[in-house]
Amino acid sequence: MKEAFRRIYGAHPEGVWAAPGRVNLIGEHTDYNDGFALPIAIPQHTQVAARKRQDDRLRLHSAQGNGPVLDLRVSQLIPGVVTTWAAYPAGVVWALREAGHRLGGADLHIDSTVPVGAGLSSSAALECAVAFAYNDLYDLNLSAPALALICQRAENGFAGVPCGAMDQLASACCTAGAALHLDIRAGAHEQVPFAPEAQGLSLLVVDTRVKHDLGDGAYAALRTGCERAARLLGLEALRDLAPADLPRAARALPAHLLPLVRHVVKENARVANAVSHLRAGHLAALGPILTDGHASLRDDFRISCAESDLVVDTALAHGALGARMTGGGFGGSVIVLAEEGRAEGIGIAITTAFRTAGYQVPHLFPITPAAGAGRIS
Ligand code: GLA
Repeated sequence: MKEAFRRIYGAHPEGVWAAPGRVNLIGEHTDYNDGFALPIAIPQHTQVAARKRQDDRLRLHSAQGNGPVLDLRVSQLIPGVVTTWAAYPAGVVWALREAGHRLGGADLHIDSTVPVGAGLSSSAALECAVAFAYNDLYDLNLSAPALALICQRAENGFAGVPCGAMDQLASACCTAGAALHLDIRAGAHEQVPFAPEAQGLSLLVVDTRVKHDLGDGAYAALRTGCERAARLLGLEALRDLAPADLPRAARALPAHLLPLVRHVVKENARVANAVSHLRAGHLAALGPILTDGHASLRDDFRISCAESDLVVDTALAHGALGARMTGGGFGGSVIVLAEEGRAEGIGIAITTAFRTAGYQVPHLFPITPAAGAGRIS
């Protein structure tokens, strides 16, 4: 990274920062309902080598492209001016300025191993790497959760994606060997030990290679539906509804909103349940919770797809403890929890099932919970 930076910009970077992608164990589409989630950071991450500039020019290169990706003045950053993926890093600088920080320019060189469009939060990784770099370059002294919320603001206000805060909080705040128990309304997070390999278990990621895109309107529609249901129920957010309130909600809501509400309410309960099992050291008990979560996203939220369902069904048929789609939905990745001895067979069965169905060959890889964002050199 440092050498590539020097070749491009003719000077050494001041440092290199990294931020990981994530998978969410459970708690999907709950973040923008003020609820709970339980993500882990994955080993795949984005790195940025950076150097502060004396003027207000923001320059960006990427190891994945040739030539400059961005070259403009920080003062010219307004939503809509950057329409490529560079809107994520540029949006971070915009959001920091919006929050009142006085910032100048920087030279940035970016490289990433997080697959794009795979539901593994490549955009949050990119945003967090840049936010952590700027935080140090300009001595902003912002905490990891504060930087995560800046990144969410960048994504909502600059890149135009109405996401919640889970991905950015995961990338910024996760620690190795733990899952991150998020309470979005309280602005609180807690590390819950999670080391599947220590209990002879494997956590597999299956990237279905069905590209998902949160900017295409379907995600926004779900969010609007949940917010409308909360309003109709006289609640601040669906977080305020307990499972026992569902029959009352059923009487008060138009039929098409009820499945959304049912998913969110039960999903919040699943997060609490998963956390108690992890705290008790019963990692295998997570399996059925994952599978229930998948059924809820498939049948109530209706955001799964044939490929994700095939991964889940094949994994379960070959002895997995549990499996579910992870992330925003409409493709992307599936996680599979299995005993170590079965993981390879499950992987082969999934690949074979995809071949038979005529789908693209999926990418499979095991993961262990990795560290969150920070300076690496
Ligand atoms: C995407 C969004 C998150 C969250 C998930 C669904 O990853 O970026 O904020 O809403 O979908 O849980």
